[in-house]
Amino acid sequence: MSRIFDVLKQRLGAIENPSDEPSLLTLASRRRRRVLRQAGTLAAAGAAVTTGSLAGCAGGVGAGAADGYPAGEGGPRLGFRSVPIARDDAVHVPDGYTARVLIAWGDPVGDLRGMPNFRFDASNTVEEQALQSGTHHDGMFFFPLPPVMMQGVGPRPPVTASSTSGLLVTNHEYPDYSTMFADGTANWSLRKTRKAQAALGVSIIEVARSERGWAVVRPSHHARRIHAYTHMRIAGPAAGNDAMMTARSRSGRDAWGTYANCAIGWTPWGTYLTCEENFNFYFKGLDEPTPMQARYGISQRNHTGLWGDADPRFDVSRSPNEPNHFGWVVEIDPYDPSSVPVKRTALGRKKHEGAACAVARDRRLAFYMGDDQAFEYLYKFVTARPWNPDDRAANRDLLDTGTLYVARFETDGTGHWMELVHGRNGLTAANGFRSQGDVAIFARAAADRVGATPLDRPEWTAVDPHGGAVYVTLTHNNDRGRPGRPGADGPNPRAPNRFGHLLRIDEASADAAATGFKWEVFALAGDPKATDSMKRATIKGDAYASPDGLMIDPRGVLWVQTDMSPGNLLKGDHAMFGNNQMLAIDPVTRETRRFLTGPRGCEITGACLTPDARTMFVNVQHPGEGREGGSDPRAVREISNWPDHQSDGRPRSATVVITRFDNGIIGT
Ligand code: FEO
Ligand code: CA
Ligand code: CA
Ligand code: CA
Repeated sequence: MSRIFDVLKQRLGAIENPSDEPSLLTLASRRRRRVLRQAGTLAAAGAAVTTGSLAGCAGGVGAGAADGYPAGEGGPRLGFRSVPIARDDAVHVPDGYTARVLIAWGDPVGDLRGMPNFRFDASNTVEEQALQSGTHHDGMFFFPLPPVMMQGVGPRPPVTASSTSGLLVTNHEYPDYSTMFADGTANWSLRKTRKAQAALGVSIIEVARSERGWAVVRPSHHARRIHAYTHMRIAGPAAGNDAMMTARSRSGRDAWGTYANCAIGWTPWGTYLTCEENFNFYFKGLDEPTPMQARYGISQRNHTGLWGDADPRFDVSRSPNEPNHFGWVVEIDPYDPSSVPVKRTALGRKKHEGAACAVARDRRLAFYMGDDQAFEYLYKFVTARPWNPDDRAANRDLLDTGTLYVARFETDGTGHWMELVHGRNGLTAANGFRSQGDVAIFARAAADRVGATPLDRPEWTAVDPHGGAVYVTLTHNNDRGRPGRPGADGPNPRAPNRFGHLLRIDEASADAAATGFKWEVFALAGDPKATDSMKRATIKGDAYASPDGLMIDPRGVLWVQTDMSPGNLLKGDHAMFGNNQMLAIDPVTRETRRFLTGPRGCEITGACLTPDARTMFVNVQHPGEGREGGSDPRAVREISNWPDHQSDGRPRSATVVITRFDNGIIGT
């Protein structure tokens, strides 16, 4: 997490208007209903999903996800020349490739209700922000138009799906108040809170490729912003639990909003899974939190986000159960602009990084999920029923019933998925878990009880379409080995862990529903030439640190994105890595080549491909982070004004679109 949480410690501002109902949303939803009626788009929104090409390839190891893509002799090959490390304020890609900004924070998403342009002086209003791209782009996925069912063990659209028209869905992780407001955090108010809330969540944009390249389709009836006040449904075991009941959600079955949206997942029937990570920072907590609140960081000590000062919903003394509405995986149907997002509580509440899907042999689905904090765990959820490749609607509530597991790693290279099921493994009323709802809401505490293995900040997960191996990035953990904290062990072999590593997990019988697995350290990040064994990397090729974002392409190549924090970037033992970047790793030879470097102060996070793998979308998050001058904009000295390069401009997070001049497959 970033500088904003370091610098925004000063709590400012009285409650300007303690109303719980932001007027922009009421107005917007009325307008939206009217526009949708007029445009007749509700019928289009429910458009039939193409299923024709799916017979026999909906699941199981070895299903044909990779058909149509060259894998190369002995495994996938990397066919581009590495780019060198960079320290400048630009995006660099290999020779033969081009990278262009597609959409940046504040650009209109193309909503039929309006398309306000970004104003470089930060004067866009709340209402405008709710129609513009959010900020701090993170996980992202391309859903082809027309819709398709996906194929394979690591499901993805078939190569025949459209690669020139689709919906690009993007997470927006957190706000940076020194770029969002001309006067930063001064005079904090409900209006400022609302703008920040409108800048997070998810953007759905329609994109199309023509002879002139990729562009956002504006207007589009698919274009949509989902943010921290969008109405959502709570489903699964926590729905209706008394810990989910609030003044506004009396039944405990409705929630308002998603934010802190980090990594993602998707389902084979074409829905998007946005994952809520550091939700606790925004709450004004209690000096003496309950043990369960403390387990999720809901305390005064962690309140740095200001929202709770202006918005009573984020003041735990006034809304004690509101934090229980966050920390979930939220399912969104991008193809239906009127759909209500659903918090799928069966997958458990934690600081979710992502939720990567794998298809088990019997076509049940498994989702692999990191909980990104030092010494937290890796989880898996397996649905009770198989998914149905022939009937999209039949999968609608598939994620509400199944088994939640947490990983226990043994030092001999084996591991087990431990059930987090009420009544089993000590998860009983006597131990504070009255129901599966309690287990889901307090999944971290349940995982503590069953003896899960604490990891070095589990970030993204990804599934190899060639056989279903699961990869996990562990970004780093400087606290491992500190007095009173766990030391080095099998899956966390370095103490401290300065640079992070990747684990590979192979499920028993290559079945995603298995309860046993084998694991290995796939790569230790850092400096391959370091003499200190705690810093020495096992990378074959270009060095990197703090792996975070992770995507596996249809050929099985791993694409690793780095998130060295501003405190480390270009400094000390991190100087050798340059700006944050993206690398490709051949999973067989483990050869590693640097594919992209980002502008100053940014993190590279979120990547996806069109079905033909000839276009890659990559997100550049928080360029300029680590600037000098703190939260007082008058004192700030910007280190980046990417991508606009206006002398008085603000740096903006953005999505970059990458293609080859010869239109070849990315990476080959
Ligand atoms: Fe949002 Fe764990 O990175
Ligand atoms: Ca970051
Ligand atoms: Ca991340
Ligand atoms: Ca991160």
